[in-house]
Amino acid sequence: MIRRDLHEQNRLAWNEATRVHNGHKRDQAEFLRSGGSTLFPEELELLGDIHGQSLVHLQCNAGQDTLSLALLGAQVTGIDISDEAISFAQQLSADSGISGTFERADVYDWLAQAAGQKLAFDLAYCSYGALCWLSNIDTWAQGIARILKPMGRLVCVEFHPLLMMFEDDWSFKYPYFGSGQPYSWPEGIGDYVAEAGAALAPSGYLSGVEHFANPHPSHEFQWTMGDIVSALLGAGLGLVTLKEYPYSNGCRLLQRMREIPGRRMIPPEDIPSMPLMFGLVAEKVSADSVRQ
Ligand SMILES: C[S@@+](CC[C@H](N)C(=O)[O-])C[C@H]1O[C@@H](n2cnc3c(N)ncnc32)[C@H](O)[C@@H]1O
Repeated sequence: MIRRDLHEQNRLAWNEATRVHNGHKRDQAEFLRSGGSTLFPEELELLGDIHGQSLVHLQCNAGQDTLSLALLGAQVTGIDISDEAISFAQQLSADSGISGTFERADVYDWLAQAAGQKLAFDLAYCSYGALCWLSNIDTWAQGIARILKPMGRLVCVEFHPLLMMFEDDWSFKYPYFGSGQPYSWPEGIGDYVAEAGAALAPSGYLSGVEHFANPHPSHEFQWTMGDIVSALLGAGLGLVTLKEYPYSNGCRLLQRMREIPGRRMIPPEDIPSMPLMFGLVAEKVSADSVRQ
């Protein structure tokens, strides 16, 4: 089942949060125009050379990573459910002079529509807090398989689902196995850019709104590593790479995380090392391999 009702509430929460997040970031158009990039080495390594490739960035938020990918020579399309995120991305594209197409849509609607129009991409990309908003991981994977060209690849860099087990203070609270049931948060999406500071604002950090309280609730879905990989294999994609990383890029996801060079966060000293992110590449071997 696809929970469009909950996606719509998430849209409202993301509209508010995105406005506040961008308020912390100094002149992003100038940053990108002068060759700046918001990307991390992990996605660059998994993506490889993208020059001349058609790339759809699913859940692109306000388009900073999408336009950074365009600077590497890809023809980019960014999709996001948030009105605020997409209008910011369109303005950022115009102001920076970096071309990209941005469309506001629920990812499930866009994937179905793109498949109906027989659109085909070399690359689909999503990252850093995308999968937890998906109410049906199998339908998502099938949708991606349909919009990739033969030998086209999905590249995904994500926070590890293990992290969903913890409270902010690192105590265990939630089960690892969520079976896609929604977790609803009355406090909505918070100001994680303020929590991270310069690590999430490479163009420069501004104090902006302080003590942000989101007026809208949000709803997340827990997908385990097994759920994610099985969904991709079940959709007929082949797994090319699967990596885990002991740090999280940019985000201070839980209390007391320590920043190390490269805008990376690691757990506090009293917490053992664990996977905080994963990266995967899945490939569409042939049109016939895709399960409809
Ligand atoms: C944490 S952000 C991803 C940020 C991304 N890594 C970037 O490049 O900035 C998650 C994004 O998912 C979007 N989103 C959530 N549910 C969605 C849905 N059903 N369809 C499309 N976008 C969705 C939100 O609006 C938000 O912009």
